[in-house]
Amino acid sequence: MSDVTKLESELLAAIGAARDETALEAVRVSALGKSGSVSALLKTLGAMTPDERKEKGPAINGLKDRVGAAIATAKESLAAAALDARLASETVDVTLPLREPQAETGRVHPISQVIDELTAIFADMGFSVAEGPDIETDDYNFTKLNFPEGHPARDMHDTFYFPPKPDGSRLLLRTHTSPVQVRTMLTKQPPIRVICPGRTYRSDSDQTHTPMFHQVEGLVIDKGSHLGHLKWILEEFCKAFFEVDSVKMRFRPSFFPFTEPSMEVDIQCRRDKGEIRFGEGNDWLEILGCGMVHPNVLKNCGLDPDVYQGFAWGMGIDRIAMLKYGINDLRAFFEADVRWLNHYGFRPLDFPTLAGGLSS
Ligand code: DAH
Repeated sequence: MSDVTKLESELLAAIGAARDETALEAVRVSALGKSGSVSALLKTLGAMTPDERKEKGPAINGLKDRVGAAIATAKESLAAAALDARLASETVDVTLPLREPQAETGRVHPISQVIDELTAIFADMGFSVAEGPDIETDDYNFTKLNFPEGHPARDMHDTFYFPPKPDGSRLLLRTHTSPVQVRTMLTKQPPIRVICPGRTYRSDSDQTHTPMFHQVEGLVIDKGSHLGHLKWILEEFCKAFFEVDSVKMRFRPSFFPFTEPSMEVDIQCRRDKGEIRFGEGNDWLEILGCGMVHPNVLKNCGLDPDVYQGFAWGMGIDRIAMLKYGINDLRAFFEADVRWLNHYGFRPLDFPTLAGGLSS
């Protein structure tokens, strides 16, 4: 076997054995590089006689061409194999469901959402949030709010009382958020503008009543506050909360011990195939109680009724949440069913603001 044929079979074997492009490149350099074996053979042509060159030239050049071609072919198939391997190891299954980012899991309960919405709306009108304890004294829950002795709301059937203390007084679970009015007037100087959202308790349970529920109280005390202000505030609130451009409201005379005059407020709505829409239609729906704070309450809280006057309102949060979000059984709010919460709950990072949208 001639040197050329021997070298060719060695090189073709090395090319065939190269497992990747780097190994192949090493073979190429060892054959066709500046000091490669084939290049060395080519260099010998210069020193040959013309006859010798005629004989060996085509063999050596043929070797160079065949080795070059074999390298090119091997390179192509190694590159294709490398691409296949990469594609196989880096597959992405685009049909997989999206995994929710950590911060997006969990849902905000509709009651918390509505409290955040109320707070955003009233904060925009200059109100701050006041809070009080769920366990109240009879004095703050009833007496200071001008409830006469023997008022039916003091009855055992409505109010959850704690066992009497040695002095005969009894603590209770607050039956409304109105005692926070008392606490606010006792500790802050007018002008006062607060809302007081929170839990309230009454011994009652059916589709529209639960022993624990939520209310939001509003209180404004100043020298010149009047019913016109109250009407404007409630109207602005209803438009913002129900996200409608206009809403008619109806103020009906009513009675609460702590306000005089007292009113109940209905808002315009349309009931349609089990759905309810606000800001249109000819039906009315009661949403809150309100009135001018009774002079006795002002006195009981250390304010002079000849100097200060104000108004207050109280609204069921659960009820307006049910109306706004189409929830028809109050009890579902408190069953802690994760499936229900996933359906009716709100995304934790979508905090309600007037600028950014309340519920979108
Ligand atoms: N406290 C009342 C209730 O629980 C609601 C209420 C009515 C609150 C009129 C007020 C008000 O502040 O002025 O039913």
